[in-house]
Amino acid sequence: MATDEGSRFPIRILLFTVLYLSVTLAVDRSNFKTCDQSSFCKRQRGLMHGSSVYRAVLDSLDVTETRARLQLMNDANQVPLMLEVYGLEGNMTRFKINELNPLRPRYEVPDVLVGDPPVLRLTVTGKDEESVELSLGTNQHKLIITAKPFRMDLLVGRDLVLSVNSRGLLHFEHQRKRMDSFSDKVGSTFVSMWDKMKSLFSSDSQRDTTTIADGEKEEEKANLETDEQMEKAEEPEKEKSAEDETGMWEETFKTHTDSKPNGPTSIGLDFSLPGFENVYGIPEHADDLKLKSTEGGDPYRLYNLDVFQYELYNPMALYGSVPLLLAHNIHHTMGIFWLNAAETWVDISSNTAGKTLFGKMLDYMHGGGETPQTDVRWMSESGIIDVFLLLGPSAKDVFKQYGSLTGTQALPPLFSIGYHQCRWNYNDEEDVRSVDAGFDEHDLPYDVIWLDIEHADGKRYFTWDPNKFSTPKNMLQQLNDKKRRMVTIVDPHIKIDNSYRIHNEIRSRNFYVKTKDGNDYEGWCWPGSAGYPDFTNPEMRSWWSSMFSYDQYEGSMSNLFVWNDMNEPSVFNGPEVTMHKDAVHMDGWEHRDIHNLYGLYVQQATAEGQIQRSGGHERPFVLSRAFFAGSQRYGAIWTGDNAAEWDHLKISVPMCLSLGLVGISFCGADIGGFFKNPSPELLVRWYQMGAYQPFFRAHAHLDTTRREPWLFGEENKQLIRSALRERYALLPYWYTLFYHAYRTGEPVMRPLWVEYPGDVTTFAIDDQFLLGSAILAHPVSEQAARGVQVYLPGKGVVWYDVHTHQKHHAPQTMYVSVTLSSIPVYQRGGSIVPRKERIRRNSECALIDPFTLYVALSPEGFAEGDLFIDDGHSFNFEKKNEFLHRRFTFSGHVLTSSSADPRGHFDTPAWVERVIILGSAKPTSVSVRLSDGKERPLDFHFDAETSVLTIRKPAVKIAEDWSITLR
Ligand code: NOJ
Repeated sequence: MATDEGSRFPIRILLFTVLYLSVTLAVDRSNFKTCDQSSFCKRQRGLMHGSSVYRAVLDSLDVTETRARLQLMNDANQVPLMLEVYGLEGNMTRFKINELNPLRPRYEVPDVLVGDPPVLRLTVTGKDEESVELSLGTNQHKLIITAKPFRMDLLVGRDLVLSVNSRGLLHFEHQRKRMDSFSDKVGSTFVSMWDKMKSLFSSDSQRDTTTIADGEKEEEKANLETDEQMEKAEEPEKEKSAEDETGMWEETFKTHTDSKPNGPTSIGLDFSLPGFENVYGIPEHADDLKLKSTEGGDPYRLYNLDVFQYELYNPMALYGSVPLLLAHNIHHTMGIFWLNAAETWVDISSNTAGKTLFGKMLDYMHGGGETPQTDVRWMSESGIIDVFLLLGPSAKDVFKQYGSLTGTQALPPLFSIGYHQCRWNYNDEEDVRSVDAGFDEHDLPYDVIWLDIEHADGKRYFTWDPNKFSTPKNMLQQLNDKKRRMVTIVDPHIKIDNSYRIHNEIRSRNFYVKTKDGNDYEGWCWPGSAGYPDFTNPEMRSWWSSMFSYDQYEGSMSNLFVWNDMNEPSVFNGPEVTMHKDAVHMDGWEHRDIHNLYGLYVQQATAEGQIQRSGGHERPFVLSRAFFAGSQRYGAIWTGDNAAEWDHLKISVPMCLSLGLVGISFCGADIGGFFKNPSPELLVRWYQMGAYQPFFRAHAHLDTTRREPWLFGEENKQLIRSALRERYALLPYWYTLFYHAYRTGEPVMRPLWVEYPGDVTTFAIDDQFLLGSAILAHPVSEQAARGVQVYLPGKGVVWYDVHTHQKHHAPQTMYVSVTLSSIPVYQRGGSIVPRKERIRRNSECALIDPFTLYVALSPEGFAEGDLFIDDGHSFNFEKKNEFLHRRFTFSGHVLTSSSADPRGHFDTPAWVERVIILGSAKPTSVSVRLSDGKERPLDFHFDAETSVLTIRKPAVKIAEDWSITLR
């Protein structure tokens, strides 16, 4: 038995555990900073709109084939910055702003972009004393840089789409030496400490980046500097007396003091979006989908935090961050991607915020209304300004553009889009066996059972509690026999315990994050005193990955997958429950610089571990709580510790919609609510909602009463069963949507405006959503609801109720009565949706089951859809083209099945057992023709009341070409 050397603070830990178990729900806001309490945010926000102190030095313009460089001079302190501009392929523009002569390199986020974005030719198309005009790639895109005050205006054709620094909020805190003699000493001690820390770590890859950056800086110096500028930048600042130094060199929050060895390093910039009133994205916040004005309140905060009992409808930070904002109007959609991993705040304001619709109309009628405009201001604590402007013009173009930069959603293994049963905790092997058996006994499908932290031996991840889980392989084998999987939790805090192999290895390899003094950083988390592996170090990540091989993770098997929790990282005794910002990572980078990236790296290393254990063959499944831009490449995300409350059920929709908009499609919320006990009604409604959200997992706090679906009486069990069955029937469609997300970056679960961009009614809707373009769901999230208002979008579009098959004309808002039996769901006329309707106990059991095609006719009698199939688990679809992508088209009374992608080939005996045509007329005969030309009649049934035609047993193979003709 391992010793418990780490539990040196049992009382504090007990206190934390008690807090976690507490049932009174309310975040303790005082644990988390407001903008005013975050000194850089306060300093940045203290700068008001006005004339910018920056001047573009047009004489310094240096243009190569693919990039333009220009100095920006701060006329107040004479410190020069360097602006770089690139036109990117695929309708994007990138610009960077950094110090021209930094005292030390500033952090540039690595590993988020999937490659170097291809650049286009760039030319100077105009220049005078006040401005320079650049053409970016195509003549369509022009960037006008105005010298004094510095601003940039981006034009597409003759339309101004975006202005940068038009409100004069560029504020770049250059690195400096501390002024007074005492702080001078302290400052230089820290500078030399920084150098020492660098030498403590050894790795080549990141050092490469630094070297390259250094190299470029040298070049910049040679090309662009004057001696005078050099002197001024290195001189201590003269204008300092006027500057509020509070928090610049040290900052205290509650009991924690951040030592800030590098002094102030924050950056801020404003963007104006003329013509845009609707902005979205920048998750994670428990708030509406459409972002609100932050005037008079705090900005939206992006800083990955473990927020205990988070509150709804506010801009506080949560577990993950994606610094991508989307702006939409009826003409186009665009995106601003702010690539920075430090603590970030985003202010939103608009000239129409607060105006009523009537007020806006009045403005319009009087002809005096200003063009609506949204202004966005980004503020980050460190790093550089690195911005990608994604110019659309459509939302789908923006998804593609962002996907080309940061990658798209990994195609999940099929089982992982089935239903997951989790709780903190299933107690032992017997408990697992009986819950698993319960699903069969009660005829409920499920794919995966989960084990939380109590399964491990004293929270030593990669181990099993020897009493409760003494034969993990037997347990896994039993699940495997039923084609089911297990997920265990592996958190990134490592118990400090000399008899724990994982700890010893990490320590001996010098892989732990360091304190500012160069010792291993220690914090408290579930196991007591814990170390935090430095996941920014690629060597550490590959070692971590190797721990998932079957011989390292003892008791693991190929049906065991992983959950990474607490990876913000959560440090119970750290500032704001996370890591000290002056902790040090590889190459001397401060935690301040990399904070929002930590969780992504944990999930990446875990996913790669799973791929490696299978010899590169199998697709991984990893659930993560923390995330950043690019996390979509590594698995699924959930919305953390919600509560069994109706409002939490409701907020899961905008939370997942926001994630989908920024590329992370595989999102879900704890079904039933994590804290507290749901009423049976709430639980049923949550299953009905979850069945239509991408990641479908029930989870519950340790302290809640058991809530397996059969514990709420026969009636509720049946309701849950039908929600589960709806999910399983629709898996072929879900899987196909995930394939599209993987290929194109389009979200699986999407707001209505993505499909109906010109329909202003849809812009603020976040109580209903679309799956792909064919299914619209309006979950019920009100207690004792008797009906809901459903908005059906699309001029000339019809929607069919998937339960009654009744047809409705759009656009309209209609009141739909509901009972507890189901939620309103519609299929769009014009779509074809594949389903599997045989009842099975999990997704793999249904792998080769026959399909039913639901053909929902448009008013013109047309419909189309597609279907993606592969083995459901390997990379062969990518590596060997072992897949089928089929296209179905109904036109001129003929339903045709053809290949949507001739590269794909995959053998499957699966066939079509039924075709259901909604909105059909009665045919006199129906026949099928195969590719060999042979035709045979088919049996059918027509229901005149509902206009539904059911074609029975066409018995055609899903992989083959065929056509079915109605006469
Ligand atoms: C916090 C997670 O959010 C929750 O889902 C989990 O059950 C607990 N940690 C314990 O691991």
